[in-house]
Amino acid sequence: MCGIVGFIGKKQAAPIILDGLSKLEYRGYDSAGMAVFDGEKINVVKAAGKLKRLVELTHDGAEIKGFAGVGHTRWATHGQPTSENAHPHLNGKGTIAVVHNGIIENYISLKKMLTKKGYSFKSETDTEVIPNLLDYYYKGDPLEAIQKTLHRIEGSYSFGIIFADRPGELYAARKASPLICGKNDEGTFIASDVPALLKYTRRVYYIGEEEIARLTENSIEFFDVDASPIEKEEVEIKWDASAAEKSGYEHFMIKEIYEEPKTVKDTIRPRIKGNTVEIEELGMTDEEIKEVGGIFIVACGSAYHAGVTGKYVFEGMARIPVNVDIASEFRYRNPILNEKDLVIVISQSGETADTKEALRVAKQAGCKVLAIVNVVGSSIAREADKVMYTWAGPEISVATTKAYSAQLVALYLLAIKFAHVRGRITDDEMTSYIQDLKKLPDQIELLLGNREKIQHFANRYVAAKDVFFIGRGIDYAISLEGSLKLKEISYVHSEAYAAGELKHGTISLIEDGTLVVAVATQKDLLAKTVSNIVEVKSRGAFVLAVTNVGSTEVENVSDYVLFIPETNRYFANSLAIIPLQLFGYYVSVGRGYDVDHPRNLAKSVTVE
Ligand code: F6R
Repeated sequence: MCGIVGFIGKKQAAPIILDGLSKLEYRGYDSAGMAVFDGEKINVVKAAGKLKRLVELTHDGAEIKGFAGVGHTRWATHGQPTSENAHPHLNGKGTIAVVHNGIIENYISLKKMLTKKGYSFKSETDTEVIPNLLDYYYKGDPLEAIQKTLHRIEGSYSFGIIFADRPGELYAARKASPLICGKNDEGTFIASDVPALLKYTRRVYYIGEEEIARLTENSIEFFDVDASPIEKEEVEIKWDASAAEKSGYEHFMIKEIYEEPKTVKDTIRPRIKGNTVEIEELGMTDEEIKEVGGIFIVACGSAYHAGVTGKYVFEGMARIPVNVDIASEFRYRNPILNEKDLVIVISQSGETADTKEALRVAKQAGCKVLAIVNVVGSSIAREADKVMYTWAGPEISVATTKAYSAQLVALYLLAIKFAHVRGRITDDEMTSYIQDLKKLPDQIELLLGNREKIQHFANRYVAAKDVFFIGRGIDYAISLEGSLKLKEISYVHSEAYAAGELKHGTISLIEDGTLVVAVATQKDLLAKTVSNIVEVKSRGAFVLAVTNVGSTEVENVSDYVLFIPETNRYFANSLAIIPLQLFGYYVSVGRGYDVDHPRNLAKSVTVE
């Protein structure tokens, strides 16, 4: 989604802004621009398409001089991805420049009001009302103008703002869209995400909801929406800077797939003490765990798919009823929540608008909310009652892989904890689950060693038009994610079906040569899935099966088989997803697509 970078200090701003924006490219965008104050006026350069175009137009930033500026990568919401609609946007006099992430929901009425007052607009964007509204309120005090503007607008925003008559200042404000700032000896910075700043500083401040920041060359001050000063603590970013670099891999996605053994280990290790699972962040006594009435798992996309697995694991192991909801549905369906229910929200970015809103719905209903989040200090992490971090490090590729794997193991840990405390599993069973958990990183490593076989198969199916993924129980949850991985980066139409449901309509789409990926890891359901494989094969399908080592009944009826090592039934997703992630990756590479930046998608979806 859109990215923001701003700088004010002793160095030329443009090269720093371009460098920062390049670190945010992974978020997905379709145009870019920047505004730099040269001591007399604000100069703006914008271009549709990739950041490279902006780099060329400005000769790496050398053509646009000045020590203060703001830059933006835009993911179009209101208006086409053209250079007119790209940010920054200016007021008519060209004295106020604004970059914006989010959506101004009442922009139409504001535009009408401003038009009546004589303002005119050049773009189709919602954002352009902001510099004009600031202009309308500006009487020489930027803070006052920003404060009044924030009171007038509805929606979500993070802003970077420069005023031509305040050369030594850069302003920022946010609500429901992330923004951080930081400082080093050369100046101060704003950015919508950590990777943009890692090269310059590791000490950052998170700007809070409806807060304003004023940056100068060597200071950062914070104010609330009524312009009263507030104190804020610096946070140290512990990410390894190389984690946000490709380090010799062709794409971030394959690098991140290769990081999965470490991610899984890092997420499990701090929560295992001897033969028990201890999740200190949960902040719940055994009594409280016993009292939980039901669990709601709420998330979007792949995080939702992790939640679907979580339902099977929690219900199977701990015998607690679990509802899994897509966040954008949950927030509007007036869910029946009870104070004894635990709501678990899952989000890699911690900024997904729908998930954040679902969290608020749950809190309003009096439920305790536990967030499983990857990005430390993100909005969801800050708003939830408790946070269980997945230790995947920065995930740059738009398609999630390692964060999803970390979410799965976080859910397994919780399920084991709940099952044990509630007397559903014995000490010995818990020990056995822990042994299986500890084996996962090496088993994933083993599967990664098989990548050539998957690459070979992907090359064969690189021209596939429709692919169906089928499975039962946890295998269905795996199918959902396998199918999403394929379609989102390779643009091959693909659907996931509960294997038993296929014959209720979808089987009519199977014809000679249609690829069906059958996931069959659940031993008690194997015979049923084998019947479904036979059904599609007899209609001409080519079946790729993902199954357990030694599963000859599946092997006998399939055309091509990928085996996963032995684990207990609940953890099979962590292994079966690896060949499916690799399959999606290699089909996309084979089709020559931009794997890390699939069209129309963004890494962090901060709008509804
Ligand atoms: C798919 C993918 C998305 C995200 C979804 C939720 O590969 O990455 O489906 O899982 O947008 O994002 P987070 O986890 O950041 O809330």
